[in-house]
Amino acid sequence: MTSSEGSPPSSKSPDLALVEQTPEERERIWRLNGESWSGPLSPDQYVGREKHLSRQLLTKNGGVNYWILTDTTKLPNERPIFSSCESYKKRALVKRPDRDVMDSISYSIGSVFCDPKYRGRGYARRMMGELGKKLDHWNQLGGQETSFTVLYSDIGKIFYTKTGWEPFESSHITLPPNQEFNLNPMTDFELLYASDLELLCQTDERKLRKAMSTREPESDTVVVALIPDLATISWLHAREEYVGLETRGRAPKVKGALVHSDGGRFWCIWSHFFSKTAEEGNVLSILRIVAEDEGGEVLAVTDGNSAAMPATNTDPANVSGLKKLLQAAQSEAAKLAMNEVQIWNPSHCVLAAATIINPHIHVIQRDQDSIASLRWHGSKSKPDTISWIANEKYSWC
Ligand SMILES: CC(C)(COP(=O)(O)OP(=O)(O)OC[C@H]1O[C@@H](n2cnc3c(N)ncnc32)[C@H](O)[C@@H]1OP(=O)(O)O)[C@@H](O)C(=O)NCCC(=O)NCCS
Repeated sequence: MTSSEGSPPSSKSPDLALVEQTPEERERIWRLNGESWSGPLSPDQYVGREKHLSRQLLTKNGGVNYWILTDTTKLPNERPIFSSCESYKKRALVKRPDRDVMDSISYSIGSVFCDPKYRGRGYARRMMGELGKKLDHWNQLGGQETSFTVLYSDIGKIFYTKTGWEPFESSHITLPPNQEFNLNPMTDFELLYASDLELLCQTDERKLRKAMSTREPESDTVVVALIPDLATISWLHAREEYVGLETRGRAPKVKGALVHSDGGRFWCIWSHFFSKTAEEGNVLSILRIVAEDEGGEVLAVTDGNSAAMPATNTDPANVSGLKKLLQAAQSEAAKLAMNEVQIWNPSHCVLAAATIINPHIHVIQRDQDSIASLRWHGSKSKPDTISWIANEKYSWC
């Protein structure tokens, strides 16, 4: 802070407000927060990636908003930036007891940041409070209400809980890369490419709606999910492709795998997360796992919320199909020199499949990084229980 800026205002000052960034401010923020998040990218590459990500199906045409907490008495581009973040508009489903499944708009919040020179003064907290209020009705057709918003905390559970985003199940398992399986890529599984995803995402969405509508009603429980649609998934793929191209000279082409097995059809969509150092490790992250039985009905075994799934739902045919799927992921991880395969919030059935591959596998409960957090926005009172299903990596941003 230079002396000409004077001392910064109190975080409670009425002059402070949450407003949208100008393009110039956005680039300044990227240059600053890139120090935290650029991973293997140079500052210029990082800015390039963020610009690229702002032009995707999910984000173009107002799908992303870039926010700052600033002093509204000052001019744009000259005003101080006390804190910043982004919100991504996502399609979501909400099922209230005794009601039909309802389409809703949700937001994923990311890149919550405070310039080191302004930290510890309550600006990020004030920003999140303002953002919560702003997103209540933001960008909603006909002034509708937002039902819920999500974020993934890398700073534990306390800060965001205090600002209204409560932690949800945040666990994962990992499997090592391995190409030694006796799998035949012609008969045991198919690799999925970008052009295969639209249809699979549509099928997944249909099945998710059906699974929610036929779910046993639990009084006082509202069931929510972000829709694993192509826009959401392809944004994550645009990210891996940009980083792959810049740092390895090639973009990952294989986006997942599909297994036809006695139990039915199983598929997963993944994304490669490249890191800066060997210690941090490159991760092949499973974004979404879907299972359907022979009749094409969805199996409620992989809806990404193991806590809500009956432990008995581990039919051997399903487990066998999922095992092949996980092995296909391990094989892809080996081919691209990834350090591990990571599966968030595995269902009992996925866990059973992983346990056959590695009998010593254990579920890691994250308490610091990537804590899935959700805030309820409806004006009606907050439900007693919110069940966030399909809480898998595709919801991350
Ligand atoms: C996290 C961050 C946004 C906080 O900004 P800030 O303006 O200093 O935060 P505030 O002053 O509003 O809030 C401070 C509160 O957050 C807590 N907090 C701040 N940084 C924290 C961290 N890294 N881990 C855990 N808690 C943290 C403080 O302990 C304090 O809590 P208290 O009020 O109960 O004492 C800022 O440190 C930052 O930009 N960090 C680097 C990027 C990052 O990690 N962002 C979060 C991604 S999920």
